[in-house]
Amino acid sequence: MSNAIAPQDRIFVALDTPDIERAAALSKSLMQAVGGIKIGKEFFTAQGPDGVRLAAGGMPLFLDLKFHDIPNTVAGAVRAAVHLRPAIVNVHASGGRAMMQAAAEAARETAEDLGIEPPKVIGVTVLTSLDRQDLEEVGQPGPAADQVLRLARLTQDSGLDGVVCSPREIGALRQACGPDFLLVVPGIRPSWAASGDQKRIMTPQEAIAAGADHLVIGRPITAAENPLAAAQRIAAKLAGDAAESRAGAPVG
Ligand code: C5P
Repeated sequence: MSNAIAPQDRIFVALDTPDIERAAALSKSLMQAVGGIKIGKEFFTAQGPDGVRLAAGGMPLFLDLKFHDIPNTVAGAVRAAVHLRPAIVNVHASGGRAMMQAAAEAARETAEDLGIEPPKVIGVTVLTSLDRQDLEEVGQPGPAADQVLRLARLTQDSGLDGVVCSPREIGALRQACGPDFLLVVPGIRPSWAASGDQKRIMTPQEAIAAGADHLVIGRPITAAENPLAAAQRIAAKLAGDAAESRAGAPVG
């Protein structure tokens, strides 16, 4: 886990909406309080690259499009994505080594051509919606946790920067992949927020203490009566804990 990241910069807000006005209004109002926004397939498919530019409004962007295809096609998709100047893009680790290497290379080369910082390219290991039986049905017997670890190691070996992982995977992945491997973690719920459909949750403080780099937080912020206040409350708690931990007090 990197200690160099400012507490509020750890937060990426998930804008899970196809509505461009709502997305743009949310990101504008949250600009001062969070590190960036996450845009996924729903918004991208509805609004396209111009919509993404508008919604991001210059904020750091996690473009969560989870590419998975043959290496040549994924490289082309990553090249196109880098023109949106994202901070983070992702691919499915199960696309394999050659696909991930092609993605990393495409990101580096395109960023160099554009004279910009390359995005972090991260892998998606096992979707948390899949249980052991689902995995068995698609020919992956054994505990999901083993597959997560296998794919995270392959991701690292293929030259990617990190993975998306669930809160309960942070400890094992941090241990297996070392301090510089980026762990981007959804499934986060402040103690005052409803868990919704998320089952295995951690508070923002718990996830950071466990070793997360970035937190993906959606509804606790976007569905709050006052999204800015909710984001500020989360960031303030993280900042307080960071200060406490620097002073040697227990984190929690
Ligand atoms: O609203 P909420 O905080 O649950 O949003 C979490 C975001 O992270 C959503 O965009 C969701 O699709 C995404 N995500 C997740 N669990 C995963 C992977 C992604 O919740 N395993």
